[in-house]
Amino acid sequence: MKVVITEKYGGAEVLKLKEIPKPQISNDEVLVKVVASSVNPYEIRIRRGEMKIMTGKKPPQVLGSDFAGVVEEIGSGVNNFKKGDEVFGMLDGLKGGSYAEYLKVKTGAISLKPTNLNFEEAASIPLVALTSYRSIFHIGKVRKGDNVLINGCTGGVGSSAVQIAKALGCTVAGVCSTKNIEFAKSLGVDNIIDYKKEDVTKLSVKYDLIFDTIGNIPFSKSKAILKPGKIYVTTNVTPAAMMIDPVLNIFRNKKAKIVMVSPNADDLNEIKKHIEAGKVKPQINTTFLLDQIQEAHYLSETGRVTGKIVLKIQ
Ligand SMILES: NC(=O)c1ccc[n+]([C@@H]2O[C@H](COP(=O)([O-])OP(=O)(O)OC[C@H]3O[C@@H](n4cnc5c(N)ncnc54)[C@H](OP(=O)(O)O)[C@@H]3O)[C@@H](O)[C@H]2O)c1
Repeated sequence: MKVVITEKYGGAEVLKLKEIPKPQISNDEVLVKVVASSVNPYEIRIRRGEMKIMTGKKPPQVLGSDFAGVVEEIGSGVNNFKKGDEVFGMLDGLKGGSYAEYLKVKTGAISLKPTNLNFEEAASIPLVALTSYRSIFHIGKVRKGDNVLINGCTGGVGSSAVQIAKALGCTVAGVCSTKNIEFAKSLGVDNIIDYKKEDVTKLSVKYDLIFDTIGNIPFSKSKAILKPGKIYVTTNVTPAAMMIDPVLNIFRNKKAKIVMVSPNADDLNEIKKHIEAGKVKPQINTTFLLDQIQEAHYLSETGRVTGKIVLKIQ
């Protein structure tokens, strides 16, 4: 099968197409014929060698987290999926493996593809929507009517976060740049803060949840616009925050938390319900073929993309 492999750490030029044998599944796994995947900034950081300590893996490595495809084989212990099922999901982003024509995966990481999405649309969802759902629903514990701030509301995570917070009945404020205001409005953002003109942490509005998808408004600044007893969540995982914030939170009235996404079929099923209800829609910026993977990474690492970059695999 065809895969994209990194043979050393480096720029997008280290991404190469290669033929390797199809994976062999265990009893508790299924083999998925991957129709589409998507690009996440994580994969760029792994490719550059910035996440060596966390991944514990070295090149050669097949990157990729998101996938949508068709179940082609099932392990003898699998009884909740069958051959031919159309599925979507994410692999553990740190291990990777979805920039490939086939992958093997445990059923706890997959869900049936939403009936109203094609494979490319479905592949744009899992990692970013699972990150948002975990941040807003599980960590943020929002309630209907809560006032939620999404910093970076136009990126992959941000565009899903806006829609998930709206689907959960929240009022959503979003921080974006002037050029992306119309896109933010199209996502359903109720109140837009243009970071080119205003510093959201200096404004008088207070929030029930702040979800910083960019990681550039730290808790030290954000707490000024957080209501008493409420939560700040960031995607910016630093060893210091992982170790220090849980201790400091014991003494804090307002809490600082980090999100670390992982595969979760239960959450993906909840997200699927919102998709099928028309409340969460895929936001595809550009679709590339697998052999255009270098271009896809170059585009992602500009940091300026709205929505998602999708890879069409077959
Ligand atoms: N911890 C986790 O589990 C986890 C999970 C997923 C992602 N992440 C991390 O979360 C970050 C975001 O991921 P992503 O997929 O959403 O990235 P992305 O799609 O590449 O984000 C690009 C978007 O960010 C916006 N942006 C850039 N600078 C901004 C700023 N200062 N203020 C507001 N918006 C800004 C850009 O809009 P403009 O051009 O208008 O600035 C663009 O729309 C990445 O660092 C990623 O590694 C972490």
